[in-house]
Amino acid sequence: MTLTRFVLAEQRKAPAATGDLTQLLNSIQTAVKAVSSAVRKAGIAKLYGIAGTENVQGEQVKKLDVIANELFINMLTSSFTTCLLISEENETVIEVELEKQGKYIVCFDPLDGSSNIDCLVSIGSIFAIFRKSEDNKTVLENALQPGNQMVAAGYALYGSATMMVISTGGTVNGFTLDPYEGEFVLTDVNIRVPKRGNIYSINEGYSHLWDEAVTEYVQNKKDPKMGKPYGARYVGSMVADVHRTLKYGGIFMYPATSQSPSGKLRLLYECFPMAYIMAQAGGAASNGNIPILDIVPSNIHQRSPIFLGSLDDVDDVLKIIKKYKK
Ligand code: AHM
Ligand code: MG
Repeated sequence: MTLTRFVLAEQRKAPAATGDLTQLLNSIQTAVKAVSSAVRKAGIAKLYGIAGTENVQGEQVKKLDVIANELFINMLTSSFTTCLLISEENETVIEVELEKQGKYIVCFDPLDGSSNIDCLVSIGSIFAIFRKSEDNKTVLENALQPGNQMVAAGYALYGSATMMVISTGGTVNGFTLDPYEGEFVLTDVNIRVPKRGNIYSINEGYSHLWDEAVTEYVQNKKDPKMGKPYGARYVGSMVADVHRTLKYGGIFMYPATSQSPSGKLRLLYECFPMAYIMAQAGGAASNGNIPILDIVPSNIHQRSPIFLGSLDDVDDVLKIIKKYKK
């Protein structure tokens, strides 16, 4: 079963479907294949290194980031299914030209984990799909929808293999790119995150900047008196860390720190899509106060703290956060 066939079969289950979402997901699939091939030959094609510009977050942009962003924008606009695009790499909302407009809004991080590019550690692409409101909403109102309005989301992981994980609601499925056929093949059917895991994932180098709750939670996970200690894993590429959490269970955290009170990860194209996938797979995602998907964004590049993964593990950290709030 290829991804293309799978998406078509899903579309047929909804008799009223126009086929636009199918077309949109196929265009994302094409962008991912092109990014994957650019990633795989980056060293040979001399695509490593800094492009010399800074993105809106003030970070250095790598050549591969630029290529991935252009590929996504080209594929999405030429699919005739999108009207607004929000990319990590573009400061403002991209409005698709009128003749090419469709009803979907796509928020995406074309190449996440940029610090890992040059050393060949896994990187990924992340996307969230929303529908344009029927009412006469402004561009910004349409762009700033809460996560629970999402129609579909997914990510691509350029790891030891290239995999796409997608949900259009209901189930989460994983497709591995067969490099010989050039097709994504359904390999991980109806992925469910274990109710509890035994791995915690956080950048522990910032522990001096954590609040008391995160400090206590992580301490507990290492304390044999509190149960069997958890293992620690942290790739530093959100897609890789979230994918492992989805498959093996456990928790991924990027909390607020005293230096970054909203954490680092961006709500629209990092936290929202990953929270959607995790929720559809039976897990949870919270900013510490409310579910990530309930947040109503106020700006397209806003950041949010995130605690995401197995239900019981997320619950544990939320209980400790609550305790300190009293
Ligand atoms: P990027 O969008 O510049 O690649 O940054 C996002 C990445 C995530 O993939 C990852 O979870 C996080 O940054 C790691 O940050 P840190 O190095 O602060 O732990
Ligand atoms: Mg990113």
